[in-house]
Amino acid sequence: MTRLAVQHGAVNLSQGFTDEAPLFELVWGGVAAAVGGDDEHIEHLDRLTLGQACNELGLSADAFAELSLKDLLARLQNPRDRFNQYSFPFGLPELRQAIADYTNRFYAFHPDPDTRITVVLGATEGLSSVLRAVCEPGDALVVFQPFHEMYPSQSAIFGLEPRYVTLREDRAAGTWTMDRDEVRAACGPGTRGIIVNTPHNPTGKVFQHEDLEFIASLCQERDLFAFTDEIYEHIVYDGHRHECLAGFDGMDERTFVINSISKTGSATGWRVGWVISPEAYTTRIRAIHDTLVIQAPTPLQKGTARLLRQDDAVFRDMWQAYDRKRMTLVEGLRQVGFQISPPEGSYYLFANYRQVPGLKDKSPMDAAMFLIETAGVASVPGDNFYRIGNEGDDYLRFAFCRSLEALQEAGRRLVKTLG
Ligand SMILES: Cc1ncc(COP(=O)(O)O)c(C=O)c1O
Repeated sequence: MTRLAVQHGAVNLSQGFTDEAPLFELVWGGVAAAVGGDDEHIEHLDRLTLGQACNELGLSADAFAELSLKDLLARLQNPRDRFNQYSFPFGLPELRQAIADYTNRFYAFHPDPDTRITVVLGATEGLSSVLRAVCEPGDALVVFQPFHEMYPSQSAIFGLEPRYVTLREDRAAGTWTMDRDEVRAACGPGTRGIIVNTPHNPTGKVFQHEDLEFIASLCQERDLFAFTDEIYEHIVYDGHRHECLAGFDGMDERTFVINSISKTGSATGWRVGWVISPEAYTTRIRAIHDTLVIQAPTPLQKGTARLLRQDDAVFRDMWQAYDRKRMTLVEGLRQVGFQISPPEGSYYLFANYRQVPGLKDKSPMDAAMFLIETAGVASVPGDNFYRIGNEGDDYLRFAFCRSLEALQEAGRRLVKTLG
């Protein structure tokens, strides 16, 4: 859909990445590591003023003023280097410590950075290394649908059998619900674990404490693992709170936390994430990770450590910027007849289009194509997120991680075509 969005000049609300800059501290952390080469020089670059740099380089003020920023950094580059090179495959000690402290700060449990944390290439590689380490071909996995496509795709690669449980929209309550009997039924013989994505893409559901308590007790009763994809952990609205299943009683030893800076750092292209695993599985996960990709990029791990050490407010207030965007898109879509349970978290809307004049009789693909070609707004057909049944056929997914102006423009285009 992104390719089609570019082709048709559409406002691209299909893929989940932002068009706004990440926190500078993250970016600088990567740049400082790549240019600084070692910790001593990075510290020097962190503190260096332009006046000091001018003196250090022995230039007159006029000659200094003529330097481009690029030439300045080239002259400040450390000729010695550690941080553009291979480092520990399972992650810099500094970053693993930062991940442990960050986890403790938000969820009050402190995984041992030496025995439980592996730095990976985003949640995507994190989940695949975990599934390969923990499951055997033929094992079944409970997957909630609508789902993120990597769950069925990775299951297919590793010969695993997804058992789908459908989340259903309770329009009156304005939320998405999980049927406990269906989850229980999916946890039959051969089931190895449950993939839990909360806050959830694409519905925006935040699994409530009772949902997670139920999953925790089921995992213990049936001896299952939980694989928790928590990459939208800080994007929650209306007083909802994200809870980490690994922190629930008895879950520490059977939960694999999959996380990354893709969303928290607005840096989907950095490909830095982490896995927190029960100690008994860490060596295996690290071996698979090392064999597949060796490591996440060293300078970007340095930047990530800086991000994770930011004040609580950086993370706790993250939802606020998205909240305005969320309501802008909700209102824009409702204006032309979409029905929406406003997302409780993440930055997606799963919108029912069966009451939208001009769309209501179309298949999800035809509706999405009509919106791209005629209105100039790109979304994703809802059936893409389902493997069984036809409940996805009434929905389109829209991402609202774009700038407010882009979302307002999308609203105007929708009204013009459908209003
Ligand atoms: C639920 C979910 N999990 C995982 C990913 C991919 O994460 P990463 O970029 O860390 O690999 C996405 C990306 O949109 C996602 O929505």
